[in-house]
Amino acid sequence: MKIVIIVAVAQNGVIGRTNGEMPWHVKEDFQHFKQTTLGHPIIMGRKTFESLGKPLKGRKNIIVTRNENYKVEYDDVKIFLSLDEAIEYCRSKGEGKIFITGGGEIYRQAISLANEMIISYMKFDADGEVKFPEFSESDWKVISKEAREQFEIVTYERKN
Ligand SMILES: NC(=O)c1ccc[n+]([C@@H]2O[C@H](COP(=O)([O-])OP(=O)(O)OC[C@H]3O[C@@H](n4cnc5c(N)ncnc54)[C@H](OP(=O)(O)O)[C@@H]3O)[C@@H](O)[C@H]2O)c1
Repeated sequence: MKIVIIVAVAQNGVIGRTNGEMPWHVKEDFQHFKQTTLGHPIIMGRKTFESLGKPLKGRKNIIVTRNENYKVEYDDVKIFLSLDEAIEYCRSKGEGKIFITGGGEIYRQAISLANEMIISYMKFDADGEVKFPEFSESDWKVISKEAREQFEIVTYERKN
């Protein structure tokens, strides 16, 4: 099963605000995110889920939280108490590909587990406290680069 991180990062490394807000709205990047993830499970932290406000359609939405009593009003959303459990659930369902969709705390834990990263590098700085973790470029091979008006999509595959 392929584990893929998908993220949009500002030039200064920012990915969001601690109050859950996304500091920018770039339609073309939302479209890329949707097109890429549709039909696959998406795993996210509780804070990211709450910032979305509702599950994203056409994808199994999986939330991780440490709160055993955490509940949502949507039947089709799965909740797990660890990232590992969420990933193992997908494996047990025979999924071929899953996406890790943030936020910062989840990316930090997922970066050592992922086989691939699809990073939209935005061409601007943004205000915010949540950053994408630093990673060693030497562990990753760039397999594609796609230029868009306000960003560039770089796809990395883990070496070996
Ligand atoms: N630019 C992008 O592509 C992008 C993508 C996604 C999100 N974002 C932004 O990122 C920000 C949110 O990131 P964040 O770091 O604050 O929060 P987050 O990673 O979305 O969620 C953190 C929460 O996830 C749960 N969690 C984390 N690790 C866990 C583990 N190992 N086991 C069980 N539960 C675990 C905890 O929930 P509990 O507190 O409930 O225990 C924790 O408080 C928002 O601003 C959002 O807009 C940006």
